[in-house]
Amino acid sequence: MRLIIRKDYEAVSEWAANFVARRIRSALGSADNAAGDRPFVLGLPTGSSPLGMYERLVRLYDRGVLSFKKVVTFNMDEYVGLPEDHPQSYHSFMRDHLFSRVDIPAGNTHVLNGNAPDLDAECAAYEAAISAAGGIDLFVGGVGADGHIAFNEPGSSLSSRTRVKTLTSDTRIANSRFFGGEPAAVPATALTVGIGTIMGAREVLIIVSGANKARALRHAIEEGVNHLWTFSCLQLHPKVVVVCDEPATDELRVGTVRYFNEIEAGNLDNRLD
Ligand code: GLP
Repeated sequence: MRLIIRKDYEAVSEWAANFVARRIRSALGSADNAAGDRPFVLGLPTGSSPLGMYERLVRLYDRGVLSFKKVVTFNMDEYVGLPEDHPQSYHSFMRDHLFSRVDIPAGNTHVLNGNAPDLDAECAAYEAAISAAGGIDLFVGGVGADGHIAFNEPGSSLSSRTRVKTLTSDTRIANSRFFGGEPAAVPATALTVGIGTIMGAREVLIIVSGANKARALRHAIEEGVNHLWTFSCLQLHPKVVVVCDEPATDELRVGTVRYFNEIEAGNLDNRLD
């Protein structure tokens, strides 16, 4: 696991956007994709953490540096029972922050349908669609203060696939800031890709920002794999990059921070030409 520590949220967002853009550009322009027939398959999160990254990806598109025409996306999760056009649905989030602002074809985007008549069938179809797309090349995620990734709450099976999950009180309280500060207004259940789904991606990038994520980061970096901190399961993934800001390192040991900074010292330049 790589840990990239940047000064603040802006620098984290810049790094994450450049990383994603570089991956898309190099995959689509690679020699084994000379015919250009293989899309780049990107897993995407919602939440506050990726907002700065999306903003910068849109800017790269506006500058003509990046195109999403050959990108296929799968979002991590969606609330159950919230209308798609509700301002806090993840459908709305993705439309407002990325999909309507770049050249991605509508048919290339996938967000779970939390209003499907048969939620289990919806989840199974989502897994099948990911497989049919050739699997996910890069899964980008954020993390909850309790260490959850997507909506894989503490105690989730580390081999779980896409399914219905009940949200914890902590998550409903955390997300109530988007629902008028009222935890009861946050849907009690969600559809989410599983830990197994994320582990199946060829590469994973996790964005961690703020002192309120420091404990989760410590569990993922310094402690063992534990289903109570589902973020920690990524220790078992062959290719993970975590990009965090300095406040998020508040609970890491000084030696841990120094170790990762030294490793990355010659490697911090992630600018996009
Ligand atoms: C929600 C989402 C997660 C996200 C987490 C943290 O629970 N389902 O995908 O990582 O919130 O959100 P934020 O980035 O707003 O702190």
